[in-house]
Amino acid sequence: TFIGLDLGTSSLKAILMDAQQNILSEHAVPLSVERRQDGWSEQDPQSWCDAAIEALSALAAHPACGEVMGIGLSGHMHGATLIGADDAPLRPCMLWNDTRSHVEAAGMDADPQFRDISGNIVFPGFTAPKVEWVRRNEPHVFDQTAKVLLPKDYLRRFLTGEYFSEMSDAAGTAWFDTGKRDWSDALLSECGLTRAQMPALVEGSTPSGTLRKDLAAQTGVPQCTVAGGAGDNAAAAIGAGVVTEGSAFLSLGTSGVLFAANAGYRPAPSSAVHTFCHALPDTWHQMGVILAATDALEWLARLTGQSAAALTRDLGVVRAPEKTLFLPYLGGERTPHNDAQIRGQFLHLDHATDAKAAARAVLQGVSFAFADCKDALSATGTKVTRALALGGGAKSDHWVAMLATTLNITLDVPRDGDFGAALGAARLAMMASTGGGADIASQPPISRSVDPDPALHAAMADAHARYNHAYTLLKDL
Ligand code: XUL
Repeated sequence: TFIGLDLGTSSLKAILMDAQQNILSEHAVPLSVERRQDGWSEQDPQSWCDAAIEALSALAAHPACGEVMGIGLSGHMHGATLIGADDAPLRPCMLWNDTRSHVEAAGMDADPQFRDISGNIVFPGFTAPKVEWVRRNEPHVFDQTAKVLLPKDYLRRFLTGEYFSEMSDAAGTAWFDTGKRDWSDALLSECGLTRAQMPALVEGSTPSGTLRKDLAAQTGVPQCTVAGGAGDNAAAAIGAGVVTEGSAFLSLGTSGVLFAANAGYRPAPSSAVHTFCHALPDTWHQMGVILAATDALEWLARLTGQSAAALTRDLGVVRAPEKTLFLPYLGGERTPHNDAQIRGQFLHLDHATDAKAAARAVLQGVSFAFADCKDALSATGTKVTRALALGGGAKSDHWVAMLATTLNITLDVPRDGDFGAALGAARLAMMASTGGGADIASQPPISRSVDPDPALHAAMADAHARYNHAYTLLKDL
Protein backbone atom coordinates (compact mmCIF):
# COMPACT_ATOMS: atom_id res chain seq x y z
CA THR A 1 0.00 0.00 0.00
CA PHE A 2 0.98 3.66 -0.39
CA ILE A 3 0.33 6.89 1.51
CA GLY A 4 -0.30 10.33 0.03
CA LEU A 5 0.09 13.39 2.27
CA ASP A 6 -1.18 16.71 0.92
CA LEU A 7 -0.22 19.73 2.99
CA GLY A 8 -3.02 22.12 1.96
CA THR A 9 -3.58 25.70 3.09
CA SER A 10 -6.64 24.86 5.18
CA SER A 11 -5.89 21.23 6.09
CA LEU A 12 -3.40 18.40 5.81
CA LYS A 13 -5.03 15.47 4.01
CA ALA A 14 -3.75 11.91 4.17
CA ILE A 15 -4.89 8.86 2.21
CA LEU A 16 -3.97 5.18 2.21
CA MET A 17 -4.15 3.57 -1.25
CA ASP A 18 -3.73 -0.08 -2.32
CA ALA A 19 -1.88 -1.33 -5.43
CA GLN A 20 -5.18 -1.27 -7.41
CA GLN A 21 -5.48 2.39 -6.39
CA ASN A 22 -8.49 1.92 -4.12
CA ILE A 23 -8.61 4.45 -1.28
CA LEU A 24 -8.68 2.38 1.93
CA SER A 25 -8.61 5.16 4.50
CA GLU A 26 -8.41 8.94 4.70
CA HIS A 27 -7.86 11.52 7.41
CA ALA A 28 -7.74 15.34 7.41
CA VAL A 29 -6.36 17.68 10.07
CA PRO A 30 -7.37 21.37 9.90
CA LEU A 31 -4.66 24.03 9.67
CA SER A 32 -4.94 27.76 10.29
CA VAL A 33 -3.56 30.81 8.49
CA GLU A 34 -2.45 33.95 10.39
CA ARG A 35 -3.01 37.32 8.70
CA ARG A 36 -1.18 39.69 11.08
CA GLN A 37 -1.23 42.57 8.57
CA ASP A 38 -3.01 43.32 5.27
CA GLY A 39 -1.35 41.28 2.53
CA TRP A 40 0.42 38.94 4.98
CA SER A 41 -0.39 35.22 5.18
CA GLU A 42 1.61 32.91 7.44
CA GLN A 43 1.58 29.44 8.96
CA ASP A 44 3.51 27.83 11.80
CA PRO A 45 5.68 25.01 10.33
CA GLN A 46 5.35 23.04 13.58
CA SER A 47 1.60 22.74 12.90
CA TRP A 48 2.42 20.79 9.68
CA CYS A 49 4.54 18.26 11.62
CA ASP A 50 1.91 17.84 14.34
CA ALA A 51 -0.79 17.38 11.69
CA ALA A 52 1.33 14.79 9.84
CA ILE A 53 1.86 12.75 13.03
CA GLU A 54 -1.86 12.84 13.76
CA ALA A 55 -2.78 11.86 10.18
CA LEU A 56 -0.19 9.06 9.89
CA SER A 57 -1.26 7.65 13.27
CA ALA A 58 -4.89 7.66 12.10
CA LEU A 59 -4.02 5.81 8.85
CA ALA A 60 -1.96 3.27 10.84
CA ALA A 61 -5.19 2.03 12.43
CA HIS A 62 -6.03 0.37 9.08
CA PRO A 63 -4.64 -3.20 8.89
CA ALA A 64 -3.27 -2.65 5.33
CA CYS A 65 -1.03 0.13 6.64
CA GLY A 66 1.36 -2.58 7.85
CA GLU A 67 2.37 -3.12 4.19
CA VAL A 68 3.05 0.51 3.29
CA MET A 69 5.90 0.71 0.74
CA GLY A 70 6.01 4.46 0.19
CA ILE A 71 4.82 7.89 1.22
CA GLY A 72 4.41 10.73 -1.29
CA LEU A 73 4.30 14.42 -0.36
CA SER A 74 2.32 17.27 -1.90
CA GLY A 75 2.06 20.78 -0.54
CA HIS A 76 1.02 24.36 -1.12
CA MET A 77 3.74 25.95 -3.23
CA HIS A 78 6.07 28.96 -2.94
CA GLY A 79 6.13 29.25 0.88
CA ALA A 80 9.40 30.51 2.39
CA THR A 81 10.42 28.39 5.39
CA LEU A 82 13.73 29.76 6.70
CA ILE A 83 15.76 27.29 8.73
CA GLY A 84 18.64 28.02 11.10
CA ALA A 85 21.78 25.96 11.69
CA ASP A 86 19.93 24.02 14.41
CA ASP A 87 17.32 22.83 11.82
CA ALA A 88 14.55 24.90 13.46
CA PRO A 89 12.40 27.49 11.59
CA LEU A 90 13.57 31.08 12.23
CA ARG A 91 10.11 32.67 11.71
CA PRO A 92 6.59 31.64 10.57
CA CYS A 93 6.39 30.45 6.95
CA MET A 94 5.26 33.17 4.52
CA LEU A 95 2.68 31.47 2.27
CA TRP A 96 1.93 31.52 -1.48
CA ASN A 97 -0.82 34.13 -1.01
CA ASP A 98 1.33 36.49 1.08
CA THR A 99 1.83 39.56 -1.11
CA ARG A 100 3.85 41.84 1.20
CA SER A 101 6.95 41.51 -0.98
CA HIS A 102 5.49 43.18 -4.09
CA VAL A 103 8.16 45.89 -4.11
CA GLU A 104 10.96 43.30 -3.91
CA ALA A 105 9.22 41.20 -6.59
CA ALA A 106 8.90 44.14 -8.99
CA GLY A 107 12.57 44.98 -8.50
CA MET A 108 13.67 41.42 -9.28
CA ASP A 109 11.25 41.16 -12.21
CA ALA A 110 12.81 44.26 -13.76
CA ASP A 111 16.11 42.32 -14.02
CA PRO A 112 15.63 40.34 -17.27
CA GLN A 113 17.70 37.40 -15.98
CA PHE A 114 14.81 36.25 -13.78
CA ARG A 115 12.26 35.83 -16.59
CA ASP A 116 14.94 34.46 -18.97
CA ILE A 117 16.18 31.73 -16.65
CA SER A 118 13.13 30.89 -14.52
CA GLY A 119 10.59 31.26 -17.37
CA ASN A 120 8.19 33.19 -15.12
CA ILE A 121 7.33 36.63 -13.84
CA VAL A 122 8.72 37.10 -10.34
CA PHE A 123 5.34 37.21 -8.55
CA PRO A 124 5.20 38.59 -4.99
CA GLY A 125 3.91 35.18 -3.84
CA PHE A 126 6.99 33.33 -5.10
CA THR A 127 9.71 32.33 -2.65
CA ALA A 128 12.61 34.55 -3.74
CA PRO A 129 11.00 38.00 -3.22
CA LYS A 130 9.73 36.91 0.20
CA VAL A 131 13.25 35.99 1.27
CA GLU A 132 14.43 39.32 -0.16
CA TRP A 133 11.79 41.03 2.05
CA VAL A 134 13.28 39.19 5.03
CA ARG A 135 16.78 40.31 3.97
CA ARG A 136 15.58 43.96 4.02
CA ASN A 137 13.22 43.88 7.01
CA GLU A 138 14.51 41.12 9.28
CA PRO A 139 18.26 41.05 8.50
CA HIS A 140 19.05 39.08 11.67
CA VAL A 141 16.81 36.27 10.37
CA PHE A 142 18.33 36.39 6.87
CA ASP A 143 21.87 36.22 8.30
CA GLN A 144 21.05 33.08 10.27
CA THR A 145 19.41 31.27 7.35
CA ALA A 146 21.14 27.95 6.73
CA LYS A 147 18.44 26.53 4.42
CA VAL A 148 15.34 27.81 2.62
CA LEU A 149 12.69 25.12 2.26
CA LEU A 150 9.31 24.89 0.55
CA PRO A 151 6.54 23.80 2.93
CA LYS A 152 6.29 20.12 1.95
CA ASP A 153 10.13 19.94 1.89
CA TYR A 154 10.20 21.11 5.51
CA LEU A 155 7.73 18.33 6.27
CA ARG A 156 10.04 15.91 4.39
CA ARG A 157 12.98 17.06 6.52
CA PHE A 158 10.90 16.31 9.62
CA LEU A 159 9.75 12.89 8.34
CA THR A 160 13.07 11.65 6.91
CA GLY A 161 15.86 13.87 8.27
CA GLU A 162 16.84 14.69 4.62
CA TYR A 163 17.04 18.02 2.80
CA PHE A 164 15.47 17.46 -0.65
CA SER A 165 13.15 19.26 -3.02
CA GLU A 166 11.84 18.20 -6.43
CA MET A 167 11.42 19.95 -9.78
CA SER A 168 7.74 20.97 -9.78
CA ASP A 169 7.86 22.91 -6.50
CA ALA A 170 11.43 24.22 -6.96
CA ALA A 171 10.28 25.81 -10.26
CA GLY A 172 8.02 28.15 -8.23
CA THR A 173 10.83 29.76 -6.24
CA ALA A 174 12.19 32.17 -8.94
CA TRP A 175 15.68 30.70 -8.27
CA PHE A 176 15.21 27.82 -10.68
CA ASP A 177 16.38 27.16 -14.24
CA THR A 178 13.08 25.59 -15.29
CA GLY A 179 14.32 24.41 -18.72
CA LYS A 180 17.41 22.72 -17.21
CA ARG A 181 15.63 21.42 -14.07
CA ASP A 182 18.30 22.74 -11.70
CA TRP A 183 18.91 25.64 -9.28
CA SER A 184 20.33 28.73 -11.00
CA ASP A 185 23.54 29.89 -9.32
CA ALA A 186 23.16 33.25 -11.09
CA LEU A 187 19.65 33.89 -9.70
CA LEU A 188 20.60 32.70 -6.21
CA SER A 189 23.59 35.00 -6.13
CA GLU A 190 21.38 37.98 -7.15
CA CYS A 191 19.59 37.33 -3.83
CA GLY A 192 22.69 36.93 -1.69
CA LEU A 193 22.21 33.14 -1.49
CA THR A 194 24.10 30.06 -2.64
CA ARG A 195 23.23 26.52 -3.69
CA ALA A 196 24.41 25.33 -0.24
CA GLN A 197 21.30 26.99 1.23
CA MET A 198 19.03 25.03 -1.13
CA PRO A 199 17.99 21.40 -0.69
CA ALA A 200 19.31 18.82 -3.21
CA LEU A 201 16.92 17.87 -6.05
CA VAL A 202 15.16 14.69 -7.14
CA GLU A 203 12.35 14.05 -9.63
CA GLY A 204 8.87 13.74 -8.08
CA SER A 205 8.59 10.05 -8.94
CA THR A 206 11.96 9.02 -7.42
CA PRO A 207 12.92 8.33 -3.77
CA SER A 208 14.18 11.12 -1.50
CA GLY A 209 14.64 9.29 1.83
CA THR A 210 13.11 6.91 4.36
CA LEU A 211 10.63 7.53 7.18
CA ARG A 212 12.58 8.04 10.44
CA LYS A 213 12.68 5.06 12.78
CA ASP A 214 11.40 7.02 15.78
CA LEU A 215 8.44 8.41 13.77
CA ALA A 216 7.65 4.92 12.45
CA ALA A 217 7.52 3.72 16.06
CA GLN A 218 5.47 6.74 17.17
CA THR A 219 2.86 6.58 14.37
CA GLY A 220 2.73 2.85 13.62
CA VAL A 221 3.49 3.42 9.91
CA PRO A 222 6.39 1.15 8.82
CA GLN A 223 9.73 2.67 7.83
CA CYS A 224 9.35 3.14 4.06
CA THR A 225 10.49 5.20 1.05
CA VAL A 226 9.46 8.85 0.89
CA ALA A 227 9.09 9.95 -2.76
CA GLY A 228 10.07 13.36 -4.14
CA GLY A 229 6.38 14.23 -4.51
CA ALA A 230 5.20 17.51 -6.05
CA GLY A 231 3.82 20.98 -5.52
CA ASP A 232 0.07 20.66 -4.99
CA ASN A 233 -0.88 21.58 -8.55
CA ALA A 234 1.47 19.10 -10.24
CA ALA A 235 0.37 16.52 -7.63
CA ALA A 236 -3.30 17.18 -8.44
CA ALA A 237 -2.44 16.69 -12.12
CA ILE A 238 -0.82 13.32 -11.37
CA GLY A 239 -3.94 12.43 -9.35
CA ALA A 240 -6.20 13.41 -12.25
CA GLY A 241 -4.09 11.83 -15.01
CA VAL A 242 -3.26 15.22 -16.54
CA VAL A 243 0.22 14.37 -17.85
CA THR A 244 0.10 14.38 -21.64
CA GLU A 245 0.00 17.44 -23.91
CA GLY A 246 -3.58 18.65 -24.46
CA SER A 247 -4.96 17.48 -21.12
CA ALA A 248 -6.04 20.06 -18.54
CA PHE A 249 -7.76 20.61 -15.20
CA LEU A 250 -9.51 23.49 -13.51
CA SER A 251 -9.17 23.47 -9.73
CA LEU A 252 -11.58 25.20 -7.36
CA GLY A 253 -9.55 25.19 -4.16
CA THR A 254 -8.55 28.04 -1.85
CA SER A 255 -6.75 29.36 -4.95
CA GLY A 256 -7.97 28.71 -8.48
CA VAL A 257 -5.84 27.05 -11.12
CA LEU A 258 -6.30 26.35 -14.82
CA PHE A 259 -3.54 23.78 -15.52
CA ALA A 260 -2.39 22.42 -18.91
CA ALA A 261 0.20 19.63 -19.31
CA ASN A 262 3.00 20.28 -21.86
CA ALA A 263 5.41 17.82 -23.48
CA GLY A 264 8.12 20.50 -23.69
CA TYR A 265 9.28 23.67 -21.92
CA ARG A 266 7.21 26.60 -23.27
CA PRO A 267 7.78 29.68 -21.11
CA ALA A 268 5.48 32.70 -21.72
CA PRO A 269 5.97 35.11 -18.82
CA SER A 270 4.48 38.18 -20.50
CA SER A 271 0.88 36.95 -20.10
CA ALA A 272 1.38 36.14 -16.40
CA VAL A 273 1.09 32.42 -17.20
CA HIS A 274 3.13 30.19 -14.88
CA THR A 275 5.45 27.64 -16.55
CA PHE A 276 6.80 24.99 -14.19
CA CYS A 277 8.28 21.48 -14.34
CA HIS A 278 5.78 18.66 -14.08
CA ALA A 279 6.37 15.92 -11.48
CA LEU A 280 7.53 13.32 -14.03
CA PRO A 281 10.97 13.54 -15.71
CA ASP A 282 11.16 15.57 -18.96
CA THR A 283 7.67 17.04 -18.68
CA TRP A 284 6.47 20.59 -17.96
CA HIS A 285 3.17 22.40 -17.52
CA GLN A 286 1.60 25.84 -17.77
CA MET A 287 -1.07 27.32 -15.54
CA GLY A 288 -3.04 30.45 -14.83
CA VAL A 289 -3.40 31.07 -11.08
CA ILE A 290 -5.99 33.19 -9.28
CA LEU A 291 -5.43 33.83 -5.59
CA ALA A 292 -9.00 33.52 -4.28
CA ALA A 293 -11.38 30.85 -5.62
CA THR A 294 -13.25 29.09 -2.78
CA ASP A 295 -11.45 31.61 -0.56
CA ALA A 296 -13.73 34.32 -2.04
CA LEU A 297 -16.81 32.29 -1.14
CA GLU A 298 -15.41 31.63 2.36
CA TRP A 299 -15.00 35.38 2.75
CA LEU A 300 -18.69 35.93 1.88
CA ALA A 301 -19.65 33.10 4.24
CA ARG A 302 -17.86 34.83 7.13
CA LEU A 303 -19.47 38.15 6.22
CA THR A 304 -23.02 36.80 5.99
CA GLY A 305 -22.73 34.31 8.84
CA GLN A 306 -23.90 31.50 6.52
CA SER A 307 -21.77 28.53 5.51
CA ALA A 308 -20.40 28.30 1.96
CA ALA A 309 -22.49 25.14 1.54
CA ALA A 310 -25.66 27.00 2.58
CA LEU A 311 -24.87 29.95 0.30
CA THR A 312 -24.43 27.69 -2.74
CA ARG A 313 -27.34 25.32 -2.02
CA ASP A 314 -30.25 25.39 -4.52
CA LEU A 315 -28.80 28.14 -6.70
CA GLY A 316 -30.49 26.44 -9.64
CA VAL A 317 -29.50 26.62 -13.28
CA VAL A 318 -27.66 29.60 -14.72
CA ARG A 319 -30.25 31.54 -16.72
CA ALA A 320 -28.53 34.87 -17.32
CA PRO A 321 -25.43 36.72 -16.17
CA GLU A 322 -25.69 38.41 -12.77
CA LYS A 323 -25.89 42.20 -13.02
CA THR A 324 -24.00 42.49 -9.73
CA LEU A 325 -20.30 42.20 -10.48
CA PHE A 326 -17.78 40.82 -8.03
CA LEU A 327 -14.02 41.19 -8.60
CA PRO A 328 -12.42 38.44 -6.47
CA TYR A 329 -9.11 40.21 -5.86
CA LEU A 330 -9.29 40.03 -2.05
CA GLY A 331 -5.52 39.65 -1.70
CA GLY A 332 -4.34 40.94 -5.10
CA GLU A 333 -4.16 38.85 -8.27
CA ARG A 334 -1.60 36.86 -10.29
CA THR A 335 -2.95 35.82 -13.72
CA PRO A 336 -3.53 37.93 -15.77
CA HIS A 337 -2.83 41.18 -13.89
CA ASN A 338 0.18 40.50 -11.62
CA ASP A 339 -1.27 43.16 -9.30
CA ALA A 340 -0.58 42.77 -5.55
CA GLN A 341 -2.38 45.98 -4.61
CA ILE A 342 -5.80 45.59 -6.22
CA ARG A 343 -8.52 44.50 -3.77
CA GLY A 344 -11.97 42.94 -4.16
CA GLN A 345 -14.98 44.92 -5.44
CA PHE A 346 -18.76 44.54 -5.47
CA LEU A 347 -20.45 46.65 -8.15
CA HIS A 348 -24.08 47.30 -9.01
CA LEU A 349 -25.66 46.35 -5.68
CA ASP A 350 -29.39 47.05 -5.35
CA HIS A 351 -32.20 46.56 -2.80
CA ALA A 352 -32.76 42.99 -4.05
CA THR A 353 -29.14 41.90 -3.54
CA ASP A 354 -29.48 39.35 -0.75
CA ALA A 355 -26.92 36.78 0.43
CA LYS A 356 -27.83 34.30 -2.32
CA ALA A 357 -27.56 36.93 -5.05
CA ALA A 358 -24.20 37.99 -3.61
CA ALA A 359 -23.09 34.34 -3.64
CA ARG A 360 -24.09 34.00 -7.31
CA ALA A 361 -22.11 37.16 -8.07
CA VAL A 362 -19.07 35.75 -6.25
CA LEU A 363 -19.24 32.48 -8.21
CA GLN A 364 -19.59 34.46 -11.43
CA GLY A 365 -16.68 36.78 -10.56
CA VAL A 366 -14.38 33.84 -9.86
CA SER A 367 -15.55 32.29 -13.16
CA PHE A 368 -14.55 35.44 -15.05
CA ALA A 369 -11.15 35.34 -13.35
CA PHE A 370 -10.78 31.76 -14.67
CA ALA A 371 -11.86 32.92 -18.14
CA ASP A 372 -9.00 35.45 -17.98
CA CYS A 373 -6.62 32.55 -17.24
CA LYS A 374 -7.94 30.67 -20.26
CA ASP A 375 -7.36 33.73 -22.46
CA ALA A 376 -3.80 34.09 -21.05
CA LEU A 377 -3.05 30.43 -21.87
CA SER A 378 -4.55 30.82 -25.36
CA ALA A 379 -2.26 33.77 -26.02
CA THR A 380 0.72 31.41 -25.59
CA GLY A 381 -0.73 28.92 -28.08
CA THR A 382 -2.06 26.50 -25.41
CA LYS A 383 -5.67 25.75 -26.34
CA VAL A 384 -7.91 24.35 -23.61
CA THR A 385 -11.19 22.92 -24.97
CA ARG A 386 -11.97 20.45 -22.19
CA ALA A 387 -10.82 20.13 -18.58
CA LEU A 388 -11.44 18.10 -15.44
CA ALA A 389 -13.18 20.13 -12.70
CA LEU A 390 -11.45 19.44 -9.37
CA GLY A 391 -11.49 20.74 -5.81
CA GLY A 392 -14.20 21.41 -3.25
CA GLY A 393 -15.94 24.04 -5.40
CA ALA A 394 -16.66 21.47 -8.12
CA LYS A 395 -19.42 20.08 -5.87
CA SER A 396 -21.56 23.10 -6.82
CA ASP A 397 -23.49 22.30 -10.04
CA HIS A 398 -24.29 25.99 -10.46
CA TRP A 399 -20.59 26.95 -10.36
CA VAL A 400 -19.49 24.21 -12.77
CA ALA A 401 -22.23 25.21 -15.25
CA MET A 402 -21.28 28.87 -14.91
CA LEU A 403 -17.60 28.02 -15.54
CA ALA A 404 -18.35 25.83 -18.58
CA THR A 405 -20.33 28.68 -20.16
CA THR A 406 -17.95 31.54 -19.26
CA LEU A 407 -14.87 29.61 -20.45
CA ASN A 408 -16.77 28.02 -23.36
CA ILE A 409 -15.26 24.58 -22.61
CA THR A 410 -16.60 21.20 -21.51
CA LEU A 411 -15.91 20.36 -17.87
CA ASP A 412 -15.67 16.74 -16.72
CA VAL A 413 -16.51 16.20 -13.06
CA PRO A 414 -14.83 13.09 -11.59
CA ARG A 415 -16.83 10.68 -9.45
CA ASP A 416 -14.59 11.29 -6.42
CA GLY A 417 -13.64 14.94 -6.61
CA ASP A 418 -11.74 15.19 -3.40
CA PHE A 419 -8.58 13.12 -3.53
CA GLY A 420 -6.71 15.26 -6.11
CA ALA A 421 -3.30 16.17 -4.75
CA ALA A 422 -3.25 13.47 -2.03
CA LEU A 423 -3.99 10.82 -4.67
CA GLY A 424 -1.24 12.27 -6.88
CA ALA A 425 1.18 12.10 -3.96
CA ALA A 426 0.24 8.46 -3.30
CA ARG A 427 0.75 7.67 -7.00
CA LEU A 428 4.21 9.29 -6.92
CA ALA A 429 4.97 7.12 -3.84
CA MET A 430 3.90 4.08 -5.86
CA MET A 431 6.18 5.06 -8.76
CA ALA A 432 9.14 5.74 -6.45
CA SER A 433 8.80 2.53 -4.45
CA THR A 434 7.90 0.11 -7.29
CA GLY A 435 9.74 1.66 -10.25
CA GLY A 436 6.37 2.14 -12.05
CA GLY A 437 5.89 4.88 -14.66
CA ALA A 438 3.39 7.42 -16.01
CA ASP A 439 0.75 4.74 -16.70
CA ILE A 440 0.04 4.76 -12.93
CA ALA A 441 -1.38 8.28 -13.43
CA SER A 442 -4.63 7.34 -15.21
CA GLN A 443 -7.67 9.62 -15.59
CA PRO A 444 -10.47 9.18 -13.01
CA PRO A 445 -13.95 7.87 -13.81
CA ILE A 446 -16.22 10.80 -14.74
CA SER A 447 -19.60 11.27 -13.10
CA ARG A 448 -20.86 13.93 -15.52
CA SER A 449 -19.68 16.19 -18.33
CA VAL A 450 -20.99 19.76 -18.43
CA ASP A 451 -21.12 21.55 -21.79
CA PRO A 452 -21.27 25.33 -22.25
CA ASP A 453 -24.76 26.75 -22.84
CA PRO A 454 -24.59 28.29 -26.34
CA ALA A 455 -27.74 30.37 -25.66
CA LEU A 456 -25.90 32.23 -22.89
CA HIS A 457 -22.55 32.63 -24.61
CA ALA A 458 -23.01 36.17 -25.98
CA ALA A 459 -24.52 37.57 -22.77
CA MET A 460 -21.74 36.00 -20.66
CA ALA A 461 -19.06 37.37 -22.98
CA ASP A 462 -20.65 40.81 -22.55
CA ALA A 463 -20.69 40.53 -18.77
CA HIS A 464 -17.06 39.35 -18.86
CA ALA A 465 -16.14 42.45 -20.85
CA ARG A 466 -17.89 44.63 -18.20
CA TYR A 467 -15.89 42.81 -15.52
CA ASN A 468 -12.58 43.49 -17.31
CA HIS A 469 -13.58 47.10 -17.89
CA ALA A 470 -14.32 47.49 -14.17
CA TYR A 471 -10.80 46.34 -13.29
CA THR A 472 -9.29 48.85 -15.73
CA LEU A 473 -11.34 51.69 -14.26
CA LEU A 474 -10.80 50.79 -10.63
CA LYS A 475 -7.20 49.66 -10.45
CA ASP A 476 -5.76 53.11 -9.83
CA LEU A 477 -8.61 54.40 -7.69
C1 XUL B 1 0.29 28.05 -7.39
C2 XUL B 1 -0.17 28.59 -6.09
C3 XUL B 1 -1.30 27.94 -5.39
C4 XUL B 1 -0.81 27.15 -4.23
C5 XUL B 1 -2.03 26.72 -3.44
O1 XUL B 1 1.22 28.85 -8.04
O2 XUL B 1 0.34 29.53 -5.56
O3 XUL B 1 -2.07 27.15 -6.25
O4 XUL B 1 0.01 26.10 -4.64
O5 XUL B 1 -1.86 25.69 -2.65
